[in-house]
Amino acid sequence: MFATAFLDIPALQGASGTVTLPGSKSISNRVLLLSALCQGTTVVHDLLDSDDTQVMLAALRQLGCGVQVEGTTVTIKGLGGQLSHQKAITFFMGNAGTAMRPLTAALSVLGGDFTLQGVPRMHERPIGDLVDALRELGCRIDYLGNEGFPPLHIGQPSLKLDAPIPVRGDVSSQFLTALLMALPLAAQDRSITIEVVGELISKPYIEITLNLLARFGIDVERQGWERFVIPAGSRYQSPGTIHVEADASSASYFIALGAIAQGDGIRVNGVGADSIQGDIRFVEAAERMGAQVTSGPNWLQISRGAWPLKGIELDCNHIPDAAMTLAVMALYADGPTLLRNIASWRVKETDRIVAMAAECRKLGATVEEGPDWLRIHPLPNGPFTPPAAQGQWQAASIHTYDDHRVAMCFSLAAFNAAKLPVRIEDPKCVAKTFPDYFEALFSVATAEVTQIPVICIDGPTASGKGTLASRVAAQLGYHYLDSGALYRVTAHAALQAGLSLEAADESRIAELARQLPVHFEGEQVLLGGEDVTDAIRSEHGGMNASKVSVLPAVREALVQLQHSFRRLPGLLADGRDMGTVIFPNSTLKVFLTASAAQRAERRHKQLISKGFSANINNLRADLEARDARDMSRSVAPLKPAQDALQLDNSSLTIEASVEQVMVWWQSRQVFG
Ligand code: DC
Repeated sequence: MFATAFLDIPALQGASGTVTLPGSKSISNRVLLLSALCQGTTVVHDLLDSDDTQVMLAALRQLGCGVQVEGTTVTIKGLGGQLSHQKAITFFMGNAGTAMRPLTAALSVLGGDFTLQGVPRMHERPIGDLVDALRELGCRIDYLGNEGFPPLHIGQPSLKLDAPIPVRGDVSSQFLTALLMALPLAAQDRSITIEVVGELISKPYIEITLNLLARFGIDVERQGWERFVIPAGSRYQSPGTIHVEADASSASYFIALGAIAQGDGIRVNGVGADSIQGDIRFVEAAERMGAQVTSGPNWLQISRGAWPLKGIELDCNHIPDAAMTLAVMALYADGPTLLRNIASWRVKETDRIVAMAAECRKLGATVEEGPDWLRIHPLPNGPFTPPAAQGQWQAASIHTYDDHRVAMCFSLAAFNAAKLPVRIEDPKCVAKTFPDYFEALFSVATAEVTQIPVICIDGPTASGKGTLASRVAAQLGYHYLDSGALYRVTAHAALQAGLSLEAADESRIAELARQLPVHFEGEQVLLGGEDVTDAIRSEHGGMNASKVSVLPAVREALVQLQHSFRRLPGLLADGRDMGTVIFPNSTLKVFLTASAAQRAERRHKQLISKGFSANINNLRADLEARDARDMSRSVAPLKPAQDALQLDNSSLTIEASVEQVMVWWQSRQVFG
């Protein structure tokens, strides 16, 4: 997951390959609650691991359910419709609507002494219609803050279930879902009828609920979309084992990707056209815009068809979440796209009509908006620019409003013909449904290599360049190349192969270096699967590296390997010739220096802390000798690249050095 403050996505060009999507949020949280309410043990496979499911799992544990997590498989021991204890419980719901609504209903029907609260945005998301419906049937619910919104307190109900229970259907379908999942708990000796007031929105989500209720032994009788009858004698029964489908809304980003990007197409695993999720009908909308889609059991294959895409007009009521993706596809269309019947966007993680309009405009697009609609005009599309295009692409820093879908949608703007990067603020908000979204995107997306940014950091030994480079890499979410480690590993491999480190064995060492089976895992360095970290990090390992690093054939042999580290979204390259030879056109080059006295002191501290004895004067003399040798050697001498910025960190903390590099970096970006 990218936990950085922002993620800069370089201009993207194409995409090919396969992605396996995480489980659906809607299905995951429904299945968890149903497993908790039923009799017996349920093994849930392919559960989504996300903020929303974590919230639900935590709540179930608080209620006394047995919960066992092993990867994406979770085993739940159900409560059998009874709470095991009666103590007061406060639940923290974060911003998880799929946990808040159904838990409110289920807990209100079960009864107890419960408080449900969440983040500030959760306290702005309406729940009044659900509470009204629950109060109507005798539940005891009090608002602890604003009338109609969480936080809530739930007490003991005295249930009156003979008359039909009315619930609003036109604000959020989650209210009806919540009642449908709660009321079977009270239907042992009588049937219960729910009546929908107003036009029911997001019907497909109700279909998911009915489908899953059936899997847990409850056959709801649906009369049109107005009345739902839970038959007398209904009783939750565990299905034993259940698989969670991949999230069809998450699939929308990769369906769009396949439609937008050049390449051999994208295969999506985990969900097929026969999915029980309503958002799968995004496929039809994408096809209307030009995507070519084929499907089989649990998979989709998408490639570019019409280009530019075709602007469409669509009533999006049936695909409220996935429809956001159409707004970004619209930027690549031949004419305007009108998304209608999207009023529900206003009460989601953020006001999504406002958010999508504002961020599309930042990208340069012309956008019109109404109470429940959005019209997006396309932007220029290179040689395929349609007459309807208005405005110009602009490099935008996309605000994401703690809304995972905003973040994922706008990553697709990186295919713009102007070849501008896109900055996504707070990229970790995708954790709500798809923690590894950006990793999945980068695993299939391609960019022209020159578009992938590289920052080079060099400097004399013990200047702290490794620490600085890896810290900056962490701040930007970039890959990190410790080129010194490659020379260290090469020397290690050569010695293991019985070679000397001298010129006599140069071509054989180069041969080894060219096929070096080296692999980095965090701080660990693996050679052919063997952990060689300690062996190569010693002073001795450094000396050996220094020997092989003066052999020109060895340097040449490592060039390709070093270039291969330049991958999306960017690279921090640390070492001798990064800015001069390996990445001469890199975006930013930093030459780190510190006085010999300072460096000797740092190395001294480092050695002492590792339990080695050391003499500071000897260390300083060694460093000065090594500087002189490094600067005067003919092969890859130590010298700043011509266009490097010098940073003397003698009196700077590591944080201050990182900050300085970040300031230089930001000043070279196009985001303004
Ligand atoms: O940065 P380090 O201490 O791990 O480097 C080990 C040796 O390899 C050092 O003598 C410098 C040399 N080196 C090099 O010649 N070129 C690089 N790109 C990186 C390191």
